[in-house]
Amino acid sequence: MIALNLKTYEQSITKPLLFADIASEVVSETGLRIILCPPMPYLKESAERFSDVFAQHVDPVPAGAYTGSIPAELLKAIKVKGSLLNHSEKRIPMGDIKIAIEKLHANGLESLICSATTNEAREIAPVSPTYIAVEPPELIGSGISVSTAQPEIVMNSVKAVLEINPKVRVLCGAGISNKNDVKKALELGAQGVLLSSAFVKAKDPKEFLSEIASVF
Ligand code: G3P
Repeated sequence: MIALNLKTYEQSITKPLLFADIASEVVSETGLRIILCPPMPYLKESAERFSDVFAQHVDPVPAGAYTGSIPAELLKAIKVKGSLLNHSEKRIPMGDIKIAIEKLHANGLESLICSATTNEAREIAPVSPTYIAVEPPELIGSGISVSTAQPEIVMNSVKAVLEINPKVRVLCGAGISNKNDVKKALELGAQGVLLSSAFVKAKDPKEFLSEIASVF
């Protein structure tokens, strides 16, 4: 599977629905699972156009008096399927990760939790998130792929997580820029990739996504 984090890049702010339509087209052409994480204010509209939308963050609070928060109940109400959590650009404490995963799952939503290291992946695995995505922060947005620059973190994390909790699916991300990076990630045992800048900033995002989807 491929998870696309649109972050808050200028392109994601100005044409978020274009990315939802592209993801939708590539899913119909390939049958591959593609998750799209648009900027928060575009979640509802994106989820109306594309069936596999995740939030970029969720708060570990219930529906109620929590000004400015995004509870899992809210995501469910607007037909979002799950949430990314603990991204290097939006880190949260381990206790909050656990509460947020439980709340997502209690609402029938999926969880995609980022970990910066193999040790962190080890800590998260027992909580049974749907996915763990290993992303070394220093390679994020660098154009240098984790699968080439740090293959050991992918292999070690896959091994560690599967030993602790074989139900969890492991992805990798950071610097994934082309077909070869994706191919290597799969060879290292990852079940998919999480990526952002190479897709959002591609000259032709549809062509880019179709190309990396062809690896699976
Ligand atoms: O969430 C994905 C991300 O952090 C990786 O970013 O730009 O290196 O693909 P990028």
